[in-house]
Amino acid sequence: MSGLTTAHAPKGLEGVVATTSSICFIDGEQGVLAYRGISIHELADQSSFEETCYLLWYGRLPTRGELKELTRRLAEERHLDASIYQLMQSVPKNALPMDVLRTVVSALSFYDPDEKKNDHEANLHKAIRLTSQIAMIVASFDRIRKSKEVVEPDRSLSHAANFLLMLNGERPSQTAEKALDIALILHADHELNASTFAARVTAATLSDMHSAITSAIGCLKGPLHGGANEAVFHIFEAIDRSGSDPVAYVKAMLAEKKRIPGFGHRVYHTEDPRATHLRQMSRDLGRSSGQTKWFEYSQAIEEFIKANKKLNANVDFYSASTYRTLGIDVDQFTPVFAVSRISGWTAHVIEQLNDNRLIRPRAEYTGASYPNRYIPLEAR
Ligand SMILES: CC(C)(COP(=O)(O)OP(=O)(O)OC[C@H]1O[C@@H](n2cnc3c(N)ncnc32)[C@H](O)[C@@H]1OP(=O)(O)O)[C@@H](O)C(=O)NCCC(=O)NCCS
Repeated sequence: MSGLTTAHAPKGLEGVVATTSSICFIDGEQGVLAYRGISIHELADQSSFEETCYLLWYGRLPTRGELKELTRRLAEERHLDASIYQLMQSVPKNALPMDVLRTVVSALSFYDPDEKKNDHEANLHKAIRLTSQIAMIVASFDRIRKSKEVVEPDRSLSHAANFLLMLNGERPSQTAEKALDIALILHADHELNASTFAARVTAATLSDMHSAITSAIGCLKGPLHGGANEAVFHIFEAIDRSGSDPVAYVKAMLAEKKRIPGFGHRVYHTEDPRATHLRQMSRDLGRSSGQTKWFEYSQAIEEFIKANKKLNANVDFYSASTYRTLGIDVDQFTPVFAVSRISGWTAHVIEQLNDNRLIRPRAEYTGASYPNRYIPLEAR
């Protein structure tokens, strides 16, 4: 075949560099993750989710005034059209929150004042709006499905605190707000992961931001990607139900050639730097709430898998126990991932459109050889 840079792509595009990007730096050998060059550790220790959003969208840290303005804009956008609430009320109460999020985000485009625009400024507005709205959707649907009153947003609160308020109906403790804020920073972006790639492919057709984010949400749902955090906790629940020892349980899974969710990574060959923080958060939150069971299960499983399979815990492993200890339902773990990752997805869509070209790779054909004769129906 002519015009091809490679005739055979590695399975799963492993190691293939598919774009240039100035958003996220990863060194998989050293366990480095940085947004716009700033280490995730510094951001987790010193930044806020709002400031991280600014960094991702505008390419640099904000001044005090710029941060105040973005924080105000994010709070101001805590608004959903009445039809969006009606849509959430009309879906089956047992619908998966991740499916509801995908459908509702798609519907948000009908009410977006910039719906018809696809320029840089309009997409920044959409990024801010979607970040506020996605958190509201995830919290509100949880209330609706439990037949509880939807909670009005509080525009004086941080993104993390407002989300927990709208989810639980009460203002969170400072510890819970801080823990979620850090988790949101840690999940905000991760280079060309599957859902971000999906968002960029969609955006590159000159479709629109809502279509790109809908693609990304559908992609994040899978258990090999964002859905892994829910799968981790299902294991903890199964361990409890069966009264098994956590190590014996995962040993049996491995004997059946099953994968252990929350372990392994395509890019990191050492500890996932996000796991370092989430492990500590899971331990601290467990201790402060007096519920150390999930952390203890996690620690026992991690030690065993590391020693026996040489696999490291990834971002999803300790986020499972962290989110549960924050009182978040298991089927909300992946939607909470999206509450954060919307910042990275939108930053990538904006970057893609700033220097766009249609993303259209080739496939290595392995089918029947050409020309293959057409046999009329009556002759088959
Ligand atoms: C993340 C993941 C999809 C990366 O996949 P990948 O780069 O395609 O890695 P591979 O599937 O080629 O795995 C390499 C080897 O490690 C093993 N492995 C990888 N992750 C494993 C896991 N979680 N449990 C058990 N074995 C695992 C594979 O079986 C394979 O072994 P083999 O060569 O003997 O067949 C994979 O590690 C996985 O399925 N993890 C669990 C799901 C998860 O946590 N996803 C969230 C990622 S942030």
